[in-house]
Amino acid sequence: MDADQLHGHTIPAGAKLILNLYGLQRHAAYWPEPQRFDPERFAPEQEANIPKFAYLPFGAGPRKCIGEPLAMMEAQMILAAIVQRYRLRFLPDRPVEPSAAFVLRAKAGVWVILDKRETGKRVDRVFRHLHDCTKLTLS
Ligand code: HEM
Repeated sequence: MDADQLHGHTIPAGAKLILNLYGLQRHAAYWPEPQRFDPERFAPEQEANIPKFAYLPFGAGPRKCIGEPLAMMEAQMILAAIVQRYRLRFLPDRPVEPSAAFVLRAKAGVWVILDKRETGKRVDRVFRHLHDCTKLTLS
């Protein structure tokens, strides 16, 4: 890439740019109540209100992730399979703390207690990561 100007800053040729996606995706200019957990922001009828480049989990432009539809389908299927069978509760003494590395992760994992919906009985294991739940035979 050639040298360029961005918002009055000179970007030298060959410089590596890292976007602050955490900041972008919590920016009050684009997101009402940006720190609030509000999955309804992404409801189909709300989608048109999200500015085009304000939400980039799969990147954008010509190198955008080609696996997005598969990843979204898998995530929803796995989540549905779990929540159909179990009620999830966070462990109160284990708050989820973000850790910014190459991708954003939970610093000490996401600890949950599972109660079987059918019987109301607690599964006698504590799971550190939600994806560990999928190692259970989902019976
Ligand atoms: C939650 C899951 C996933 C996330 C968050 C994710 C995210 C991303 C991101 C941010 C990029 C870079 C886009 C850019 O440069 O602008 C990317 C590229 C890519 N992803 Fe994914 N991805 C996911 C799942 C998948 C899956 C399931 C596949 C394949 C089945 C896949 C295949 C690819 C490929 C091949 C590229 C490179 C595209 C290119 O450079 O032309 N990804 N992904």
